[in-house]
Amino acid sequence: MIIADSRFLRACRRQPTDATPIWFMRQAGRYMPEYRAIREKMGMLDAIRTPDIAAQITLQPLNACALDAAILFSDILTPLIGMGIGLDFVRGEGPSIENPIRSAQDVDRLRTPSVLEAMPYTFEAIRLVSAELAPRGLPLIGFAAAPFTLASYAVESGGSKNYERTKALMWNAPDVWDRLMSRFAAVLGNYLFEQARAGANALQVFDSWAGALSPRDYARFVAPYTGQVIERAQQSGVPVIYFSTGTGGMLDQISALGSDVVSIDWRISLDQAWQAIGYDRAIQGNLDPVLLMADWPEVQAAADDVLAQANGRSGHIFNLGHGILPGTAVDMVRRLVDRVHEKTGEQVISRL
Ligand code: CP3
Repeated sequence: MIIADSRFLRACRRQPTDATPIWFMRQAGRYMPEYRAIREKMGMLDAIRTPDIAAQITLQPLNACALDAAILFSDILTPLIGMGIGLDFVRGEGPSIENPIRSAQDVDRLRTPSVLEAMPYTFEAIRLVSAELAPRGLPLIGFAAAPFTLASYAVESGGSKNYERTKALMWNAPDVWDRLMSRFAAVLGNYLFEQARAGANALQVFDSWAGALSPRDYARFVAPYTGQVIERAQQSGVPVIYFSTGTGGMLDQISALGSDVVSIDWRISLDQAWQAIGYDRAIQGNLDPVLLMADWPEVQAAADDVLAQANGRSGHIFNLGHGILPGTAVDMVRRLVDRVHEKTGEQVISRL
């Protein structure tokens, strides 16, 4: 099967499919015993920077379930390393940054190296995975952070609840903020473009924390840079997905950014979101990841409800509204994948 005709890529282009495609954010991760076995032996950054290991982890979930796309095993924070920011993943705590960005001097010190030289391991991993997936007709999703979400880590020095330092920089030093966001936008746009050139069939822009902003601040301080990243990524010719959470109140702005697919979370119903985004775009989502820890009848009912809201329209990609949680049972993931395929496959047959 030709990858361009895969369910996932057809749905990105809003073409009819034989069943609704499904994949999961964080589908390669700690809920899988195969993943934990590798991570017991090596650190997160070492795994990311060893192409055959990254490729192996990327393929693990596709060997366990009938998923319709792979997403490269890496992290949104790796571009910071080449820019001169010391990044580490602390076991059980998540990412930590040694020299956070707090001043104009910090921003001016940031390097903007060629992404091919800074992250050769990522492009090599993409080439390895693509070679494995091509004969199976399965697409590979490459990704990068959106500038705001990357800035929130670089400024706060890790995860954050209120983004106080990031917002202070944005409001109190708008010129410094502009320089920071412009640099990130340039690097992230090129990073995505080169991932497509190396073999990624679609690109997802992760703006996980955009929902922390008011619509007014999103418009002034974030949307222009995110728009640049999406535009550069689209120059590669592959579909671009924009992902965010908690942004149900600014879907008009998000739609205006022009991504091919908009990924939504569970805080808004899929039919309401699709109407706000516009039916000229594909939509991805939107189960609550915690739901996968409920009993199966509840999961099935919620999945069927999402499918009912999509209402057989072309251009729905089934996913969670955020990443799979580490405590999720692999069998639950498998059942959900099969349910979505069976249910939507039946609908196609009954329409024929
Ligand atoms: O989705 C995938 O399977 C592809 C790989 C991927 C990872 N991180 C692997 C990972 C992707 C696309 C990401 C994106 C990412 N990383 C985001 C955006 C998506 C989101 O969840 O909002 C963010 C905010 C990060 C930053 C990050 N990386 C955090 C906050 C953490 C710690 C929290 C956690 O879940 O452990 C990570 C670590 C991380 N990235 C792990 C994985 C599999 C866990 C590492 C481990 O302990 O083995």
